[in-house]
Amino acid sequence: MLSLPQFPLLRVRHNLRRAPCVKTRLPPTMTAAATATGPSTTGVLLEEVDTTRNVQQYYGKTLTSSRDLKTSACCSAVPPSARVRSILSALPDEVLARFYGCGSPLPLGIEGLTVLDLGSGSGRDCYVAAALVGASGSVVGVDMTEEQLAVARAHTQQWASHLGYSNLRFVHGRMERLHEAGIADESIDLVLSNCVVNLSPDKRAVLGEVFRVLKYGGEFHFSDVYADRRLAQSAREDPVLVGECLGGALYEQDFLRLCRDIGFADPRVLSRAPVAITDEAVSAAVGGANFSSVTYRLFKLPAGRLETLCEDYGQYAVYKGTIQGAPHAYALDDHHILQKGKPFLVCGNTASMLGETWLGKHFDIHGDRSVHYGLFPCGPAPSADTAAAACAPGGACC
Ligand SMILES: C[S@@+](CC[C@H](N)C(=O)[O-])C[C@H]1O[C@@H](n2cnc3c(N)ncnc32)[C@H](O)[C@@H]1O
Repeated sequence: MLSLPQFPLLRVRHNLRRAPCVKTRLPPTMTAAATATGPSTTGVLLEEVDTTRNVQQYYGKTLTSSRDLKTSACCSAVPPSARVRSILSALPDEVLARFYGCGSPLPLGIEGLTVLDLGSGSGRDCYVAAALVGASGSVVGVDMTEEQLAVARAHTQQWASHLGYSNLRFVHGRMERLHEAGIADESIDLVLSNCVVNLSPDKRAVLGEVFRVLKYGGEFHFSDVYADRRLAQSAREDPVLVGECLGGALYEQDFLRLCRDIGFADPRVLSRAPVAITDEAVSAAVGGANFSSVTYRLFKLPAGRLETLCEDYGQYAVYKGTIQGAPHAYALDDHHILQKGKPFLVCGNTASMLGETWLGKHFDIHGDRSVHYGLFPCGPAPSADTAAAACAPGGACC
């Protein structure tokens, strides 16, 4: 059983406000850069076996509840929507107690969708999603740790009685090998994940599998931790930093390159919160790097539909106000907040995200790509808390 005294640094950062996700020593050959941009593995590498065992040990045995976390990196920084909060209030205590997510990747308006949660843990987000999708939708959670799956499975019947229908199941599997868990090509509308991708030794394989299982018009909606630079090898191999969900965090620009490589051409940030590092030893060990918990939206559309730059075709979108829990406005991302009934100028990419995905029934898109007016006037994405001020509803800024 892993314990804090095994890791000297942990003693000096007892006042950190973030949470250790996993205490594992990464093999020297496994680097964040390699996992970000290297080829996918076709077999089971020794490094993967070690990492898998350590992660399973930590989430299966070391942690018994979120109270055991020592910092807040694996704690949600962004509050869930009111509708989600109301569903959460009915969840079994045990499911809530073992929540280790770092965000709220739970979009509204998903009635009838087929949802997959990667690294579902005790199942909190799956239970909420099961309520959000309703009787005509379904939810499957995949996790590789039996103890987590046992907690998640223990309450599904109770939840089905509460909801009045049964649409939730949990399967054992690795997110790098979803085919082995029986997740078929183009079978999923919405893939969720909450603070799990950073734990993978093969992030390219994870994104590749997500792309494979998503239907066209589907979305990967997930929260994870990112760094503002490539970490030194010493930091990537430091068990404490990996344990703090920092060592496995990708440099965000490498993550964006990887997304585009895989086919997710225009990643959108929904929310972002800094991960505070208050401990000098940790700060020194990461070489002054800064970390953020970010919720990304990656839409899968046919090749070429999402362009590398935002282009102006004179299109505008109108939100119908039909998403339950969002009657007045809808945030596609941190700088596209559409008010019900109010025309909102959009670039071609945004028009496709709103009109040609699972969101399509909630928006009217006016115009097509037949006439091009040049580059869409884009600005740098503001942070979530400045989005409303920086982006006046009715205008647009990609
Ligand atoms: C930080 S916890 C998050 C759990 C859950 N998403 C939540 O929000 O509570 C990480 C979870 O991911 C699982 N996990 C880690 N790596 C995995 C992998 N490669 N494949 C499947 N599950 C994995 C662990 O077993 C653990 O349950």
